[in-house]
Amino acid sequence: MKNKSKGTALVTGAAKRLGQAVALHLADQGYSIALHYNSSKAEAMKTAAFIYKKGVRCELFACDLADPKEALRLMAQVHQAFPDLNLLINSASIFVPNTFGAQDLTLFNAHWNINFKAPYILSCEFVRLVKQGGIINFIDTNVVKNSSRYSDYLLSKKALAEFTKMAAVSFGEAIRVNGISPGMILTPVNSQKDDREIRAKKIPLKSVGNPQYILDTIDFLLKNTYVTGQIIAVDGGEQLV
Ligand SMILES: NC(=O)c1ccc[n+]([C@@H]2O[C@H](COP(=O)([O-])OP(=O)(O)OC[C@H]3O[C@@H](n4cnc5c(N)ncnc54)[C@H](OP(=O)(O)O)[C@@H]3O)[C@@H](O)[C@H]2O)c1
Repeated sequence: MKNKSKGTALVTGAAKRLGQAVALHLADQGYSIALHYNSSKAEAMKTAAFIYKKGVRCELFACDLADPKEALRLMAQVHQAFPDLNLLINSASIFVPNTFGAQDLTLFNAHWNINFKAPYILSCEFVRLVKQGGIINFIDTNVVKNSSRYSDYLLSKKALAEFTKMAAVSFGEAIRVNGISPGMILTPVNSQKDDREIRAKKIPLKSVGNPQYILDTIDFLLKNTYVTGQIIAVDGGEQLV
């Protein structure tokens, strides 16, 4: 085990993709890792194995964040296992296309619970249990727009963006709360068509991103202790056009 720990980071949705990249990076930075996953147990175990190899403590926490009671329990379990918990990264999310409609609220409830209510619950519990620390919420560069093929997804992320700012005010100097709004960073989930190269031609920096840009932003937000309530778009300028 590495001697000098910076504390512990709970990273949600950390078995693969961006959450995994963040967990591995924070392990390199000296954080012990509370690695949350839901269905990707095999990938979570592989990620944990990479972290152990770095000589860093890592424990796995399975939790379906669609269930608010489970989300509540998750924070208690993590804090019990890691009393030095001081960083929460809310990355877990679903991203399913739909349009507004009240006949079937299944997708509304799923997006609302996983993308908004879970980060809300985890953050409120975090501030109750942790004296000094930080929260970083993964949002989406499209939150400034009002038209989307992903209506309930976008609405849930807009709520998370507003919560990020309100929580920064409410939690004050004890817990800084910031957000990162990724643009075209990874290939889309749910076997959707990967048209990022075509879409990238229309944004100011004319290129798709990669996870390193997100990790650099996390480093900035952790280092700069005079920043709270900010949401940084890491999107090649996509939000502007
Ligand atoms: N990737 C991008 O380019 C991009 C662009 C814009 C915004 N973002 C945002 O950045 C964050 C990370 O992106 P990503 O692409 O890495 O996310 P992702 O692959 O879509 O999802 C991350 C994880 O969320 C977890 N999750 C889904 N449903 C869950 C549930 N019911 N309970 C608990 N966990 C659940 C899954 O864990 P399991 O696999 O273990 O089930 C999944 O691996 C997300 O918040 C996303 O909205 C990403």
